[in-house]
Amino acid sequence: MSNDSVFKTFLVAFLLCVVCSVLVCLAALVRIDREAYNKQLEIRKTVLAAGGFQQQIDAGEDIDKLFTDNMTLKLVDLATGEFTTAVDSATYDQKAAVEHPETAEKIPTDQDLAGIGTRAKYAAIYQASNGDLILPIRGAGMWGPMYGYIAVAADGTTVKGLTFYQHAETPGLGAEVDNPKWKAQWAGKQLYKGSTVALKVVKNGKYDPNAADATSTIDGLAGASVTGNKVQAIIRYWFGDHGYGKFLANLKG
Ligand SMILES: Cc1cc2nc3c(=O)[nH]c(=O)nc-3n(C[C@H](O)[C@H](O)[C@H](O)COP(=O)(O)O)c2cc1C
Repeated sequence: MSNDSVFKTFLVAFLLCVVCSVLVCLAALVRIDREAYNKQLEIRKTVLAAGGFQQQIDAGEDIDKLFTDNMTLKLVDLATGEFTTAVDSATYDQKAAVEHPETAEKIPTDQDLAGIGTRAKYAAIYQASNGDLILPIRGAGMWGPMYGYIAVAADGTTVKGLTFYQHAETPGLGAEVDNPKWKAQWAGKQLYKGSTVALKVVKNGKYDPNAADATSTIDGLAGASVTGNKVQAIIRYWFGDHGYGKFLANLKG
């Protein structure tokens, strides 16, 4: 076939298009895979950070190994406060479960302190090798939803750590929830006084270490009381009766 043939020109152009399309599709697939992996890695880091493994993360230890060696995924039926195997925890997607009426539950308005409307029936929690529980929490921040994990000791009331992995708060203000110094004060705080959720976030500078309730008090964020109040409301919802209240009471019992 002559190089000047119209047919050959179209054939070459067509083949070039096919090759380029295949390459673009492959690149997109690799990128989607990579993005999904990076997202999973971020969540694993958050769970480990909340669970007290920040030093190992900072030291560059293998996150996947650290995670699989130390964390066990379990599902909790929030209505009964019992572990459940009704669905496969490995494939359970708590965020997706919120979207379906059969896997979600509406939150009575008077109990919806976190401003989320609906929550999944089952919570995907992690049990750390030392017995700590790393529990997912979410709720409305000042500018959008906040997603995080809070680690609680096996006594069901002592906080071990708190980390948000997604929020829309303002850098320098509400986004200071990510500041390691602010997060550090959560370790050792008591969620409950008896069976009542006692943990509160006070206005920045109003924390009194000698106050009777100091063990349940967090100093708020400078110039960001709204976010501080939202975090308090999120904690109060998730550790109340409609959240992890029954589960932690069972644990204590
Ligand atoms: C552009 C803009 C962004 C803000 N972002 C936040 C925020 O993310 N979180 C927050 O609590 N307050 C934020 N604020 C401040 C709040 O409006 C409010 O003044 C503050 O939360 C009050 O806290 P304070 O009483 O501790 O000063 C923002 C204000 C402005 C103007």
